[in-house]
Amino acid sequence: MMRTHTCGEIRSSDIGKEVILAGWARLVRDHGGILFIDLADRYGTSQVVFDPECYESKDVQGRIQTSIETVGREYVLKVKGVVRKRVEGTEDARNPTGEVEVLIAEIEILNTAEVPPFELIDQKETLLANEDVRMEYRYLDLRRSKMIANLTIRNRIASVVRGYLWERDFLEIETPILVRSTPEGARDFLVPSRHNPGMFYALPQSPQLYKQLLMIGSADKYFQLARCFRDEDARADRQPEFTQIDLEMSFVDEEDIISLVEGMIVEIWRSIRGVEPKHPFRRMSYHEAMETYGTDAPDLRYDLPIIDVTDICRDSEYSIFQAIIKSGGKVRCINAKQIFSTDPNVPEDQGKFGRNWIDRLIDWTKDQGAKGLTWMKVIGNKVESNIVKYFGEKVQERLVNAMEGEQGDLLLFVADSPNRSSELAGRLREKLAQEMELIQPDRDEFVWIVDFPLFDIPTPGSRPQAMHHPFTSPEEQTVEYLGGDVSKLRSRGYDIVLNGVELGGGSIRIHRPEVQRKVLNILGVSEREAEEKFGFLLRALKYGAPPHGGIAIGFDRLVAVLLGIDTIKEVMSFPKNKKFQSLTDGSPSYVDEKQLKELQLLSLASPEKED
Ligand code: AMO
Repeated sequence: MMRTHTCGEIRSSDIGKEVILAGWARLVRDHGGILFIDLADRYGTSQVVFDPECYESKDVQGRIQTSIETVGREYVLKVKGVVRKRVEGTEDARNPTGEVEVLIAEIEILNTAEVPPFELIDQKETLLANEDVRMEYRYLDLRRSKMIANLTIRNRIASVVRGYLWERDFLEIETPILVRSTPEGARDFLVPSRHNPGMFYALPQSPQLYKQLLMIGSADKYFQLARCFRDEDARADRQPEFTQIDLEMSFVDEEDIISLVEGMIVEIWRSIRGVEPKHPFRRMSYHEAMETYGTDAPDLRYDLPIIDVTDICRDSEYSIFQAIIKSGGKVRCINAKQIFSTDPNVPEDQGKFGRNWIDRLIDWTKDQGAKGLTWMKVIGNKVESNIVKYFGEKVQERLVNAMEGEQGDLLLFVADSPNRSSELAGRLREKLAQEMELIQPDRDEFVWIVDFPLFDIPTPGSRPQAMHHPFTSPEEQTVEYLGGDVSKLRSRGYDIVLNGVELGGGSIRIHRPEVQRKVLNILGVSEREAEEKFGFLLRALKYGAPPHGGIAIGFDRLVAVLLGIDTIKEVMSFPKNKKFQSLTDGSPSYVDEKQLKELQLLSLASPEKED
């Protein structure tokens, strides 16, 4: 080995020992002829020092000094020396190696380095370059202690997951990356086949069908840290290429999967955070989530429930609400609580959340596509507002009661179609929580969302879409509706949500071919298309498919939420940007005409054509 210790390892107990360290010269400082280098690696930073007073011969001193003087930022060094206590008052309590330093006896420059295009030191994070530059030089970005710590924790979580599942008899099985293109929600990435001109593989959006085939193949308990590929719009919590903790089990029901996953999450939290989250996790029906929180991934770290006040507002004379209600819409209300003074004589334009704030909130809501935002102030058991004249006393009282309004509370109303009003109120709820700083960052609120409808039917009569995916089983009690009112079909799906982030989703699957055919048919897949696209699955289901089910947890999302990070890019080694480009290797890129020819492909957008 080139070194005896890592740069994060030496402590006071090593004082007097001769050590060899290797790493990067993160910071070089000259304090009146004494030269200090912060030598860094994945494990930490150690201070190595050249102290001219401390050498026996001028020769040795001169040699070391000449070498050190050429050292630039991020040079790769090997340093041999004796560990000594730092001068009193110069210790660094934030650094585990901060009580000691290594007096350089020998120094070897293993490699030189160009000046990095941005700062790699934690304390200088404000000087960090923009994301594009960080991605272009991701290998340098990864040297930052935060970034390498994120990857280290990611690795620890993977190890807990593997340990937990192996202990329970799961087999880690790899499924193919070149697969058949089957519709699963997003667009597929396609890969041309040279051996089969004109034909394409797809990259898997998830191993869904393969894990089902594994159950038919008697694997019984499967898992995989699976790479998935989806050509969909990038967002803070979405990447075209990501990882799932994917698992599937035979002869199980919903409770088996839910309790297995809950146990796994509790173990991850215990190992990484040192504390167990509150469990068993809450359960909430999809209906309640949509009605009360305006989303199927509610953030339960704060309250602010949404209340449907359509029936009360029906009795008002406010024409805007009336028109929306008559056309089948809904009025939803949030009590933002004590925004105003409880003293009715104090005007509304005082304080942080005065009239200006409400006006900004109204503009924001309109930017979100709302028709408007109506507000009222609670005074006693009545309300005050510029439209109050349209609300009779009785209606006002009913509103205050329904909203559990107290003196000085602010009531906010959005009115629109049922889905739109729910979605807008959900976004308003999140915005209010941010503005009013209601989110406690160290609180974790897990919730299982259950009891989904099998199909999403946005407006009556529109084509049903799978709420999860087409392989999700309907509830036994509702199977009769497969041939009738399909809106009554309930699903055996479940989602796990943490702090407003959908961590994962799964279901008990359809294991009978005739049910699968019917569901595909309802989704508008013709018999011929079903045979062409899903024939292999339909055939396999005929060969004694066991009842089975599973789930996939977004691994990148899990790591990010666990670390309290907003964007999953920070926990991925080489993520892509908004345009799905990797700035690290410059992909995607044009390829040679020759390569295209071999694949018998013609590109309509070659570089020349773009010029
Ligand atoms: P689903 O499509 O819900 O289910 O995906 C499961 C979880 O994967 C994560 N995820 C993503 N993470 C990062 N970038 C993306 N583009 C992205 N898309 C999804 C989310 C999500 O909850 N085969 C089914 C699972 C099953 O039924 O077992 C599936 O893939 O955290």
